Amino acid sequence: MSLLTDLRILYHLACNPIRGGTHRERLESFYKGQAGGYDDFRRRLLKGREPLYRRMPVPPSGDGVWVDMGGGTGANIEAIADRLPQLKKVYIVDLSPSLLAIARERIDKNGWTNVEAVEADVTQFVPPEGHADIITFSYSLTMIPDWFAAIDQAVRLLPPGGSIGVVDFFVSRKYPADGYTGHGWYTRTFWPAWFAQDNVFLNPDHVPYLANRFERVAFRGNRGKVPYMLGMKVPYYQFVGRKRGT
Ligand SMILES: C[S@@+](CC[C@H](N)C(=O)[O-])C[C@H]1O[C@@H](n2cnc3c(N)ncnc32)[C@H](O)[C@@H]1O
Repeated sequence: MSLLTDLRILYHLACNPIRGGTHRERLESFYKGQAGGYDDFRRRLLKGREPLYRRMPVPPSGDGVWVDMGGGTGANIEAIADRLPQLKKVYIVDLSPSLLAIARERIDKNGWTNVEAVEADVTQFVPPEGHADIITFSYSLTMIPDWFAAIDQAVRLLPPGGSIGVVDFFVSRKYPADGYTGHGWYTRTFWPAWFAQDNVFLNPDHVPYLANRFERVAFRGNRGKVPYMLGMKVPYYQFVGRKRGT
């Protein structure tokens, strides 16, 4: 961690205008200048990723396929490195070439022979195997405009009993369902406005839609500190679900 790298990242988060006529161009415009410092800064901002990845069940058959939707630099694969030999394939799917370049460096450096970084839109991605046994979204749903299509794609790719894990920022509905975290007016108003400047859209419907499409295995709402925002804590959640049916 260096102050200079942090200042560069903060400049991109707070000042650098996001340009581009397509979603892919806008993502690349946002990430290109900060890809080098991405992992260090996001380690302090994006809470709850490692425990979520560690708790995802891997099929005992040894031929499981894991798709990490909006996987960026592939940093989360470090959390499951010890279980890679039990998987047939892991796909890191993302639309930002700058972040995928770092993912490819990480794959080479670690010698992960069954991990592949793929440039694709997660709302349409289908792995060559035609299905996935485990699907994860780590802080990506809030950056996917058609987030409902991304969740629908996960439903299509998973077999009955297949697992989904999501960790992301969120705000609740004014009246959340029983068993789900609720937030007051200030939280529901401030954080969506704050993150929207970086095209990160906290949406009170993410969690209800996940709960609608999947059988809930676990849900946890929490709050995490934001670097350089003294005393401010942003809400995030971890959701683990299973595709219904047998
Ligand atoms: C905040 S980053 C999270 C990256 C990584 N999952 C992590 O935990 O560090 C959100 C990621 O979602 C990707 N993304 C957004 N929309 C996407 C889409 N439609 N298809 C593929 N990736 C997308 C972005 O390029 C970015 O890498």
